[in-house]
Amino acid sequence: MLSKFFLCVLASAAGTFGSTLPKRAQFEASSYSSKNVIQTDFAIIGGGAAGTYAAIALKDQNKTFTLVETTNRLGGHTRTFRDPSTGAVVDFGVQIHLDAPIVRNFFSRLNTALSQVQLTDFGLPKYFDFTQRVALPNYVRGNVGPDYIAQLNKYSYLDDLNNLPAQVPSDLLLNFPDFAKKVGLSENSTEGGLNWPATPGDPLKTTALAILNDGNHVETAEFQGAGVHAANRDNSQIFRNALAEIQADVLLQSSIVAANRGPTPKSGVQLIANTPTGKKLICAKQLIIAFPYTPDQTNSFGLDSKEKSILSKISGKYFYGGVVNNTNLQAGVAYTNAGANTSFHAASLPGVVEIAPSVSPGYYFYWYNTVSPLTRPQIESATRDTIKFLQSQIAATTTASEPNFVDFQDFSPFHLGPGNSDIADGWYNKMKGLQGYRNTWYISSLFVVAATQVWNNTANMLPSIVGAANLH
Ligand SMILES: Cc1cc2nc3c(=O)[nH]c(=O)nc-3n(C[C@H](O)[C@H](O)[C@H](O)COP(=O)(O)OP(=O)(O)OC[C@H]3O[C@@H](n4cnc5c(N)ncnc54)[C@H](O)[C@@H]3O)c2cc1C
Ligand SMILES: *[C@@H]1O[C@H](CO)[C@@H](O)[C@H](O)[C@H]1NC(C)=O
Ligand SMILES: *[C@@H]1O[C@H](CO)[C@@H](O)[C@H](O)[C@H]1NC(C)=O
Ligand SMILES: *[C@@H]1O[C@H](CO)[C@@H](O)[C@H](O)[C@H]1NC(C)=O
Ligand SMILES: *[C@@H]1O[C@H](CO)[C@@H](O)[C@H](O)[C@H]1NC(C)=O
Ligand SMILES: *[C@@H]1O[C@H](CO)[C@@H](O)[C@H](O)[C@H]1NC(C)=O
Repeated sequence: MLSKFFLCVLASAAGTFGSTLPKRAQFEASSYSSKNVIQTDFAIIGGGAAGTYAAIALKDQNKTFTLVETTNRLGGHTRTFRDPSTGAVVDFGVQIHLDAPIVRNFFSRLNTALSQVQLTDFGLPKYFDFTQRVALPNYVRGNVGPDYIAQLNKYSYLDDLNNLPAQVPSDLLLNFPDFAKKVGLSENSTEGGLNWPATPGDPLKTTALAILNDGNHVETAEFQGAGVHAANRDNSQIFRNALAEIQADVLLQSSIVAANRGPTPKSGVQLIANTPTGKKLICAKQLIIAFPYTPDQTNSFGLDSKEKSILSKISGKYFYGGVVNNTNLQAGVAYTNAGANTSFHAASLPGVVEIAPSVSPGYYFYWYNTVSPLTRPQIESATRDTIKFLQSQIAATTTASEPNFVDFQDFSPFHLGPGNSDIADGWYNKMKGLQGYRNTWYISSLFVVAATQVWNNTANMLPSIVGAANLH
């Protein structure tokens, strides 16, 4: 007789768990009340750009899925502060997408109008050294020029690290300033490369590979007239609309605490999720990983030694952001941190990257960069001190006002990757080789940074993912 919970049947009686019967039982439907057993084609873990895209695309192919997300919303790094009482809307995570069919189709599918990005949307930059507390009135930060684009063209596989050759040219593993010097990049292109928006970590110690992968042909196009964002300046609207549509198949404030992933498509995957309404068993044909898969996050997924040897090499960087008002700062100015005396005027760490105006008068968003983790109170206190310094620099400010912090997000772990020796050792090819292994697929940001590319790569992978599920 075919069990009602046929997807929950374990791969093989012997092997996976040996004699540990209690452990086996936790993956069996009979150990749960039936309302806590979910059978579905796909388990998607993480509801940011990648996971939400996959969920909607699978729904549109009449596939079933369960999406598990740790927070109480979808969107991940897309984050919008909204206050209906004042009408404030402040995007303080993802700002910009490429004007490409994949973006237009996804926004249109989720009933959200797009408009073209104007460079003035980001405010008029004024430079200060936030660490040394001095104004840099004569400084203008350089932008990348044709010599930078020539390097992108030369190493065009860096647009997507899925295409990285097994033999990685050693120049690409130089820190960007050393690479720039070696290939003769202009001062402006070097500064531009070191200062792509929302880049975590010390830019002076970031490899050329990482900088050219982030600041790639997609990013340069976005900043040269081909950028779009939600017309109402609320980039989260697609995610709220998605959640309203797929709510019944989304487990918010939930996480996976144990997993059994079989060796073949027939065995599928069994996952145990902690949810606000208790423990649930999710039995799926294929598993889609759509969160930043650092070792602390993947250790509940029952990794085997092959997976461990690859995934354990990943680490992420720290990056934070928030929204502040009552600043008394000048409207339309993007207060930007630049080093007075540092190489290429790189901002010193830790510190505020910039305090930028939003579409909502009086509301600014800020980004904060540091090489080691900090708490919200530490970051808000440091940002407050920076704002106080800026107030002291503005002649017209007669009253110093007390900054009011109204929202915050920890974007860490961000820009995941392995160390240089692993990259040289062909790590990206090994990671790519894990796609589909033990019924598991990895779609979140790793090989690419921009959401446009995360969506494009997900769309490109879905036929293989659906194909694997069809073998069940
Ligand atoms: C400040 C900032 C600005 C950016 N600006 C842009 C921009 O303008 N344009 C652009 O294209 N890209 C931008 N990015 C890059 C951004 O990372 C990508 O666009 C995109 O959001 C990556 O998608 P993702 O799905 O991989 O990750 P995310 O969008 O971060 O989604 C990951 C999701 O997984 C969830 N999660 C984490 N751990 C678990 C777990 N264990 N179980 C379940 N769920 C979990 C998280 O809560 C989150 O919802 C920016 C990033 C930052 C931090
Ligand atoms: C999904 O189902 C709907 C309604 O049954 C049908 O109209 C549509 O063609 C199906 N789509 C796909 C991709 O199978
Ligand atoms: C470098 O950038 C600055 C600021 O944008 C600009 O004034 C200057 O002309 C640029 N220099 C060169 C050589 O392009
Ligand atoms: C600051 O923002 C908060 C939250 O939106 C709002 O309640 C408050 O009125 C705002 N204050 C000012 C001075 O704009
Ligand atoms: C930075 O350099 C200037 C002149 O080049 C010097 O006057 C100043 O003291 C330096 N500041 C710091 C903090 O080193
Ligand atoms: C999408 O993927 C295809 C296939 O890899 C690639 O040719 C194309 O450039 C990508 N487009 C974007 C916008 O990333």
